[in-house]
Amino acid sequence: MIFDILTIFPDFFDSPLREGIVRRALIAGKISVDVHDIRDYALDRHRMTDDRPFGGGEGMVMKPEPLVRCLQAIDGDQDQSLIILLSPRGRRLNQETVHRLSESSRLILVCGRYEGVDERFRDRYVDEELSIGDYVLTGGELAALVVIDAVTRLLPGVLGCPGSATNDSFSRGLLKYGQFTRPRIFENMPVPDVLLSGDHQAIVRYRLIESVRITMDRRPDLLATVRFSSEERRILKKEGLLERVEAIVQQSRCEAEHSG
Ligand code: ADE
Repeated sequence: MIFDILTIFPDFFDSPLREGIVRRALIAGKISVDVHDIRDYALDRHRMTDDRPFGGGEGMVMKPEPLVRCLQAIDGDQDQSLIILLSPRGRRLNQETVHRLSESSRLILVCGRYEGVDERFRDRYVDEELSIGDYVLTGGELAALVVIDAVTRLLPGVLGCPGSATNDSFSRGLLKYGQFTRPRIFENMPVPDVLLSGDHQAIVRYRLIESVRITMDRRPDLLATVRFSSEERRILKKEGLLERVEAIVQQSRCEAEHSG
């Protein structure tokens, strides 16, 4: 996977890419990351990349020409690339989108700044506009790093154990169960007995129930997307959870219908 980053703060990316799994993926050649300084493509000697908004208002808007010149300077087959603008106006990133992005061969990540990017650049050049959450950052750089991190760990051979990403929170719409490690007793809190029992089926059951409880409590909106197998439904029913899950799903469908 090739990542290209368009930014006015190229140094921002130095240290995050030098740590952990992303660093290993870089060294192993599973990914490459090229950071492009948009200022290098400015048209004037002051290297201006932003200007005041037509119509007035707060802040500055990123000019379209340096962005386009920067895109044009990126070599390679751009038909195989997805051009992504990171901005709080984008569709919210989720694990499904991360999966889809991980199937591309090249992602060009444009980091917006200031009050935004000239809309004509967005309309003509951007394939997708993504936000990492309902809050406003000072720019798209952190969001680009989030995309790189989340996509990289899904690439074949990047995580140590094949399949470890399939047990992620969100991979099937459920949040992950709590995990425990040594010591067996920490500040008077023991590890749940079942995890020490060696009974694999009981552990699978316990983890399913925990996942469902945590999801119901923290992100009930996710439950509507989960497909439970008949065995899982049987386990949840025995635990008295199935009816509660179904009631939550019903409620969120009803709310969705009434909100639009
Ligand atoms: N730039 C500023 N805020 C952002 C957000 N929430 N997501 C992506 N890019 C952003």
